Amino acid sequence: MKHLIIEDLSWRYATKKYNPELKISDENIEIIKESLRLVPTSYGLFPLKYIFIESKEIREKLRSNAWGQSQITDASHLLVICSFIQLDHSYIDEHIALTAKIRNIDPSSIQGYGNFVKTKIDEMSAEKHSDWNAKQPYIALGQLMHTCASLRIDATPMEGFEPAAFDEILGLTKDNLKSVLVCAMGYRSEEDNNQHLAKVRKNIEDIFEIK
Ligand SMILES: Cc1cc2nc3c(=O)[nH]c(=O)nc-3n(C[C@H](O)[C@H](O)[C@H](O)COP(=O)(O)O)c2cc1C
Repeated sequence: MKHLIIEDLSWRYATKKYNPELKISDENIEIIKESLRLVPTSYGLFPLKYIFIESKEIREKLRSNAWGQSQITDASHLLVICSFIQLDHSYIDEHIALTAKIRNIDPSSIQGYGNFVKTKIDEMSAEKHSDWNAKQPYIALGQLMHTCASLRIDATPMEGFEPAAFDEILGLTKDNLKSVLVCAMGYRSEEDNNQHLAKVRKNIEDIFEIK
């Protein structure tokens, strides 16, 4: 199939080895950040925080807790995608206030909606609430994969790390945050053999159904 979107998605692969000399430009990082800001989330609550890790020292520590994967230290940029552990009522109130401000409407006109969201959240156990928040980073990761591919920036989506160790190293828990996903971004090494591998995907007829 020929289409720019399909070309982008076929170009990308989960990069295993980066060229540490090649850096993503500031201009492209701004595009990536804006793409990550535009991510949709449940109720639009955006229970996310994106942390770029620039410190070499911290990256080394993180690598020791990420199966020693070289992307953690060698990629141009390393992003840890975190979610909030719990959202309290004041968080929802702030979201309602932001919506009213941006849309130039009276906050009282959407307070009913805010109360509905609070009720839905209060219905969840603490564990379910935290798990629900932790699903939102996957939406960001998917969007990030495509954005990077469109810019011809290599990326590695990563779950192969110890979240508890990352939380400790980055001091996340005190900020009501937990690490969910990591994404390394940069430019592939010529030595990365994975770039030559054919994509392994199921056939269209095996993954779609009509009922
Ligand atoms: C949520 C998620 C976590 C992943 N974790 C890792 C990882 O820790 N290390 C790694 O090298 N690749 C990781 N991958 C890459 C997958 O193995 C890869 O995307 C998959 O095999 C498909 O290959 P492709 O991305 O090259 O098309 C992860 C992918 C996803 C979506």
